Amino acid sequence: MRKLLAVLATAVVAAAALTTAAGARQGDKKQDEPKIVVPYVPTKHKVVEAMLKTAAVKEGETVYDLGCGDGRIVIAAIKDFKAKKGLGIDFNPERLKDCEKSIADAKLTDGQKKSITFKQGDVLKMTKDDFKDVDVVTLYLLPVVNRELKPVLKAGLKKGARVVSHDFDMGDDWPAEKTVKVEDDREHTVFLWTIK
Ligand SMILES: C[S@@+](CC[C@H](N)C(=O)[O-])C[C@H]1O[C@@H](n2cnc3c(N)ncnc32)[C@H](O)[C@@H]1O
Repeated sequence: MRKLLAVLATAVVAAAALTTAAGARQGDKKQDEPKIVVPYVPTKHKVVEAMLKTAAVKEGETVYDLGCGDGRIVIAAIKDFKAKKGLGIDFNPERLKDCEKSIADAKLTDGQKKSITFKQGDVLKMTKDDFKDVDVVTLYLLPVVNRELKPVLKAGLKKGARVVSHDFDMGDDWPAEKTVKVEDDREHTVFLWTIK
């Protein structure tokens, strides 16, 4: 399965690179379009729970999901793990509409709603300063994106902060300290790193 995912990931990256190159050739690439666009595949709720458990999200913590899709990870962090603040970032405005719907469907208290922010942005443009008050970062991106984010996360996150990634690791130079397998529609893997 890992092999299949790796092949799929490579194909997606290649497709994204091709699309970007084609757009640039045609002169129609929008200036704010991310240089790598990861396709939207929502994390299954069972895996969301495993990610937040593996990261040991605690009451009062701040959780960021980079490439937040419909916002399910941030909402679960606030609702089920009592995080104090949640931020989800996605470049795609359609996903932000999905996030609004997810909030409406989640039956949150007014306080919980206030503690959640979803915003449009390219995660590859985030800087280390964006992460200084963050306790947990969640990712379901691609290996190539994880590797681009790695130096920013390492430089920006405080000691004790955790990073969890669904299915994709950070490369051999930052091995995960823990991996958790989750059976659902297929076998999913959750990787954990703690900032030392
Ligand atoms: C695989 S989905 C994961 C969604 C969500 N985190 C989850 O686990 O359910 C990846 C998401 O990242 C967004 N995305 C892809 N590339 C991005 C980029 N460069 N900056 C911001 N968001 C991006 C996509 O629009 C998509 O919603």
